[in-house]
Amino acid sequence: MSLVAAVQALDDHGSNVDIMDSEAWDARYADADLVWGNEPNQFVRAQCETLAVGVAVDLACGEGRNALWLARLGWQVTGVDYSAVAIERAGILAAQVGARVASRLTWRVDDVATMQLRAESVDLALVSYVHLPAGQRSSLMLRAALAVRPGGHVIVVGHDRRNLREGVSGPQDERLLYDPLELRSLFAGIPATRVDVAETVERHTADGVALDTLVRVRRI
Ligand SMILES: C[S@@+](CC[C@H](N)C(=O)[O-])C[C@H]1O[C@@H](n2cnc3c(N)ncnc32)[C@H](O)[C@@H]1O
Repeated sequence: MSLVAAVQALDDHGSNVDIMDSEAWDARYADADLVWGNEPNQFVRAQCETLAVGVAVDLACGEGRNALWLARLGWQVTGVDYSAVAIERAGILAAQVGARVASRLTWRVDDVATMQLRAESVDLALVSYVHLPAGQRSSLMLRAALAVRPGGHVIVVGHDRRNLREGVSGPQDERLLYDPLELRSLFAGIPATRVDVAETVERHTADGVALDTLVRVRRI
């Protein structure tokens, strides 16, 4: 069995993990103007601003704050999310930033837990604050890594497991949260992959300090 097939065979059924489905996300987006704001996430900005511009996929892009920022830098970006409302809004925002930037953006409604990603098709796979049950999480990380060309990167940022007891807000089910060591060992098992960063980082919010996991992986 291939590595991808083995990871995809991981079974989340019966785990009773309570996740928001696409309808729940649609309702959340329909209820607010801009849920995550229009600036890129601070860690995405810090990790990506020095990378050579290329082709990127933003997996679970929401309203596209990170994808739009990357496109402004010159990246060719596909933003994917299973909320059609979020993707529609991302398209509207892109149209507002001008034709040149908008022409670098493609939006797609799809489920990142199952969608196929073409091998070695991108220079950057971005996974920003998507919280999935363990099997889906591992499968997404593996497919993201294999989608990256040699020299390219996977950047993952999301709520850290330590945030439950030491930080503020974010999902409250431990099984959906990230652990730098877990991701380090997962990526270390993927051939031609080097983990450059795998750590817990602090994000200062109006409600206090939130703890996030930040991982940067390079394909070699
Ligand atoms: C917390 S938001 C983060 C959005 C964006 N990445 C950002 O950083 O602004 C989580 C997003 O993940 C999307 N999402 C969750 N599970 C998904 C799945 N299986 N497939 C596609 N999108 C998913 C939701 O619709 C939502 O837009």
